[in-house]
Amino acid sequence: MKRYHVTTFGCQMNAHDSERIKGMLEELGLGEAPDQHEADVIVFNTCTIREKPDQRFAAHLAQAAALKQREPDKVIAVGGCYAEAQRERLFDLYPYVDVAFGPGSIPHLADWIGTGGQAPRGRFAEWRSFAGDLPARRERPFQAWVQISMGCNSKCSYCIVPSVRGREQSRRPGDIVGEVTRLASAGVREVTLLGQNVNSWGRDLLPDVRTEFGELLRAVDAIDGIERIRFTSPHPKDFRVPVIEAMAECAAVCEHAHLPLQSGSTRILKAMRRTYGRQRYLKLVDEMRAGIPDLALTTDIIVGFPGETEADFHETLEVVKEVGFDSAFTFVFSPRHGTEAATMPDQVSEDVKRERIERLVDVVQRSARLRNAERVGRTEEVLVEGPSRTDPSVLRGRTRRNTTVNFSGGGVPGDLVHVHIERATSTTLSGREVALVAV
Ligand code: SAH
Ligand code: SF4
Ligand code: F3S
Repeated sequence: MKRYHVTTFGCQMNAHDSERIKGMLEELGLGEAPDQHEADVIVFNTCTIREKPDQRFAAHLAQAAALKQREPDKVIAVGGCYAEAQRERLFDLYPYVDVAFGPGSIPHLADWIGTGGQAPRGRFAEWRSFAGDLPARRERPFQAWVQISMGCNSKCSYCIVPSVRGREQSRRPGDIVGEVTRLASAGVREVTLLGQNVNSWGRDLLPDVRTEFGELLRAVDAIDGIERIRFTSPHPKDFRVPVIEAMAECAAVCEHAHLPLQSGSTRILKAMRRTYGRQRYLKLVDEMRAGIPDLALTTDIIVGFPGETEADFHETLEVVKEVGFDSAFTFVFSPRHGTEAATMPDQVSEDVKRERIERLVDVVQRSARLRNAERVGRTEEVLVEGPSRTDPSVLRGRTRRNTTVNFSGGGVPGDLVHVHIERATSTTLSGREVALVAV
């Protein structure tokens, strides 16, 4: 039997795409290899959101190239966002790459890689269509990602995603509900709905099925067996009251929203083309917190966007303190070829970016530590995911608010248990199991 190995970079969208790449390769009769050495087909599912993932991919690819030099029959396949961004020169840059495909070609992978792993060498896959219901090799039987849209219609001036993932296209509600229903009957208890901007989902559908995200949350909530619904990411510009109401009213929708802020300065937000300002973001946070009790808020922040002054950066720190995020992903601005921000004047020096991100991380950690400390003494519902990463005698899981908990107890992966929280750090909670949740 031929074997494959997939290395994944980037976001949850890519992680889900990789599950489907694996599922499709297995349908072709390939088995999974533990590493590149033992694989006949080496697949990279790439990301190009910042320079760092580009560099990490290049390092991994160099290892694969060395293996291929010794075993020329190995197939190297490069998919994902970096492949799409570099499609014109990928084979020139890396002549040992056999096949390449963008994120839109995943449904056609079977035709592309071919039975038994042969592929038409040196060509880029041209097919493009919606990756709806495809075979997927999921990591955990009780959790699943569900794609609700592809592409993005926003024009954030720093972002490469619209140019590599194309215009936004919503998946039809019936198809989404159908997939979640099948997942639920296969034992899935938690689904994460995926889209670049989940809150604009539904607007591009034909009038007979046109709908909106709040309605989708309600439809998924009504599916028997689904205990937890998550989604990522909503864009603050499109977060409306009906979605807040649906989050509050649907028992399965978790009390967590990942709401990318990017910057706390209205001036910078404008240059980023985010189409909201500091005040509007803060007002949305107030509305969400008023409507959804015990809501956890996480975010993404970029420092060092072109033209960002110390005063602008200070406003970001202020918003982080004022909102009190539960956690945040923090990034140094990375100019991406072809985006508007890459050629803007007043690029910020690397030194200043470094210094700002350190200060930001400090404030974020302080806020996360405070938020987590508030959980001590409470009992939280935890979905058991497996043994703790650092201490295998202890279990690990996540609360509805999406915080990792390490705890002593007797649950098995997939169980919902109640855990009494005894300690908190800026990233994790710990405690002991007090009961199995009856469902
Ligand atoms: N569609 C998602 C974001 C996808 S990219 C959304 O809008 O929520 C994930 C995060 O990467 C973004 O939120 C942003 O904070 C960061 N990012 C995107 N482009 C970047 C760049 N050029 N430099 C630094 N960070 C970037
Ligand atoms: Fe990129 Fe903005 Fe679209 Fe998110 S909403 S994917 S940051 S363009
Ligand atoms: Fe995701 Fe990276 Fe593509 S963040 S959408 S895999 S560029």
